[in-house]
Amino acid sequence: MMAVHLTLDNADLAKTYDEISDSQFHKGCILVKKLGVKPGDSILDIGSGTGRLGRYVIGIIGRCGRYVGIDPLEERVKLANAKNEHGNAIFKTGTAEDLSSVVDDSIDVVYLSSVFHWVLDKETALQEIYRVLKPGGKVGITTGAKELNSVTGMRLVTDRVLKREPYNGFVRLEDSTQQQHGLTTTALVQLLAQAGLKVNDVQIKETARNYATARETIRFSEASSFGNYLNHVPVSLREQAKADIEAELEKYRTNGGIQLAGYTIFAVARKPGNSEDHTTL
Ligand SMILES: C[S@@+](CC[C@H](N)C(=O)[O-])C[C@H]1O[C@@H](n2cnc3c(N)ncnc32)[C@H](O)[C@@H]1O
Repeated sequence: MMAVHLTLDNADLAKTYDEISDSQFHKGCILVKKLGVKPGDSILDIGSGTGRLGRYVIGIIGRCGRYVGIDPLEERVKLANAKNEHGNAIFKTGTAEDLSSVVDDSIDVVYLSSVFHWVLDKETALQEIYRVLKPGGKVGITTGAKELNSVTGMRLVTDRVLKREPYNGFVRLEDSTQQQHGLTTTALVQLLAQAGLKVNDVQIKETARNYATARETIRFSEASSFGNYLNHVPVSLREQAKADIEAELEKYRTNGGIQLAGYTIFAVARKPGNSEDHTTL
């Protein structure tokens, strides 16, 4: 299985992500609305990154709320804390698979926005989420819909290039992170239900992304993958592959820039809270 490296990030990638992650931020805002986050809530933001969505949520929960953001990448946690002005909010290093610093039954809302495809042990993460949620508490997830990868703009362009010489003998398209660790809508619902969570709402939305140039598109892919973009391409071919993908993307640039189609799953589930919940098979 192709690894996800947590050692390739740096301050520049973190800063870039904070600056050009409008599309992810927008998806996160939709998720937060679906979750009904409200003043006074206790929030666990898993994979909080540079804290952009967190800052928005901290504004909603107000002074009576409590917010913890966790992320494995130190540079992103550092940036998030540097921009945080609220004493009831903190960003810490950590992963979805180990929430041992969070006590049982203590959180109203947990969310993972554009994160779950990076989590290697999804079952353990969901067990941990179940443990820390209050009865009736909610978990929200946005992640790419794997069953629609073949009609996702960036994927189409990337694969078209990687099928060509000199890459074709050295790259297995099915080894990309999204193929290896991403999941279909059905698989996500199954995992949530198997973890004992009640799935309340699942939706696939078309989530197009817009970039001024092909260069910016590649920069975003590198920043949002914390250096793992094209990690299924041998290191010796990676820079050339990036340049070829950039040239391919440029062909789609219009006066409005480059628009890439994408499909995102928005899922909301809750920990059973009342006796009726517990008796539903
Ligand atoms: C695309 S960013 C999303 C950041 C933020 N949630 C947002 O909406 O902008 C993905 C984040 O997932 C984090 N991540 C990767 N593996 C993780 C894991 N096992 N547990 C928690 N977060 C993880 C990365 O460090 C990165 O900050």
